[in-house]
Amino acid sequence: MRVHSEFFFAIFRFLIPPTLIGLAYLYLYPVLQQCEFPVATSAEAACYKDGTSGVAATVAPFRLLALADPQLEGDTSIPTLSSQAWSQRLAEKGVTAVVKEDVTRVLQRWRKKVDLWGNDLYLAHIYRMVRWWTDPTHTVVLGDLLGSQWIGDEEFSRRSDRFWNTVFSSSTKVPYNITDVYGHVEVLGADKAWRNRIIAIAGNHDVGYAGDVDDHRIKRFEGAFGAADWDIRFRLPSNVSQKPSFANPFAVPDPELHLVILNSMTLDSPILHPSLRERTLQNLEEIMHDHHNFLVPKPKNAATILLTHVPLHKEAGICVDPPYFSYFPDDQGGGIREQNHLSEDTSAFLLNELLPLDGKGSAIVLNGHDHEGCDTFHSRSVLSSGDKLEDWTAARFQSARARVAKESHVGLREVTVRSMMGSFGGNAGLLSVWFDESAGEWKFEYDSCMLGVQHIWWAGHVLALVELGLGAAGMILWLLERKADASAARKTKSA
Ligand SMILES: *[C@@H]1O[C@H](CO)[C@@H](O)[C@H](O)[C@H]1NC(C)=O
Repeated sequence: MRVHSEFFFAIFRFLIPPTLIGLAYLYLYPVLQQCEFPVATSAEAACYKDGTSGVAATVAPFRLLALADPQLEGDTSIPTLSSQAWSQRLAEKGVTAVVKEDVTRVLQRWRKKVDLWGNDLYLAHIYRMVRWWTDPTHTVVLGDLLGSQWIGDEEFSRRSDRFWNTVFSSSTKVPYNITDVYGHVEVLGADKAWRNRIIAIAGNHDVGYAGDVDDHRIKRFEGAFGAADWDIRFRLPSNVSQKPSFANPFAVPDPELHLVILNSMTLDSPILHPSLRERTLQNLEEIMHDHHNFLVPKPKNAATILLTHVPLHKEAGICVDPPYFSYFPDDQGGGIREQNHLSEDTSAFLLNELLPLDGKGSAIVLNGHDHEGCDTFHSRSVLSSGDKLEDWTAARFQSARARVAKESHVGLREVTVRSMMGSFGGNAGLLSVWFDESAGEWKFEYDSCMLGVQHIWWAGHVLALVELGLGAAGMILWLLERKADASAARKTKSA
């Protein structure tokens, strides 16, 4: 008799170690993997006067959690029941076939719904755990928040509700009174609300490629996720700096970090609605050339962070995605249907804006789109023959790094952040930015943190549920058995 509850308890005990290991990994993975924002180091601190060497490491004041391509799917990927009339199908196929077909469809629908539900929770788990352990000051989602640009408004609002209420719950979009002002300036770290804000970038699956993006889709995106083209300047208060004025135009301004949020879906042509491209370019012109600041050449202590969706152009072989464009046929407008990179011209234009010849300062570009991730360095040099410039060339960051250390300001780093989707390992990018007083310039460092495929999340939680079920079933049986034994004992006694 007792064998029954013992059976449940035996499996329960057997599953304790894998369950505990699974849950411990899931709920401590950033700790176990020692995921951390890179620490801020200072060049000067590397060698002290007394001859000892060491690096003064501090927490960077700007820590950007960068997530890419969550691509929330929805009803378009749920198989629907046949719309044919039942009677007709019965007549055509017979009862067994129809029942079999419908049962399969219903099961498929449920499976897909459970998949979507689990996927939302998996992404939410990444956001919650990485945020809890690494303490970012800002968060960006680098485009393709949703899985398709062709969904109707109703499905769009369902998915954006899931985005805000399940995946990134407790977070909000950046308010319009910040994004609507060119060059809005804040003291870095002054407004703690940034910790709960998500900077959302428009991707091709959110608004469409140039060949089919329209005003309605951009408005719909901006309504749900905030402005698509905007900028903000974070200043670091410093005692040595003085505001430049007419009396003292050479005073040192505060170190400034310029965040540029760019909708790269309307940058290239041919585009279905050229007015959208003009608007983006005009916005960019306003953003990049702070007309109110008469200290026009970019000072050395300024830095720009460009956040956008589509990576800059680079030769095949550097990243997984090679350069690629396809176009709609002429009778459908002939615009861009798909692109892996921005065009060579647009990329060079952006790089020139980020590192102008007459300016100093540093810059970094973060984007998504290719899912695999990539880390590159764009550089060019002035030819000795005169003021002619070489074209920009890109190389893998690791191989360019040695050169970067020797010649500063020859270029900039572009990090294509790996997707946070389960099939790409649930990646989260960690960008640290700090001002190196001794070098007089901003420094960037990037690292990443991966949970692993979504099956790990499922396995851990399913095991935990199974254990709960086994434990409960075993306890109930055990109580029933005890009662049965007691009454059996009473019976033998009275007999
Ligand atoms: C934006 O509006 C909110 C709420 O009205 C207000 O608290 C905040 O100070 C405003 N921010 C700016 C930068 O104007």
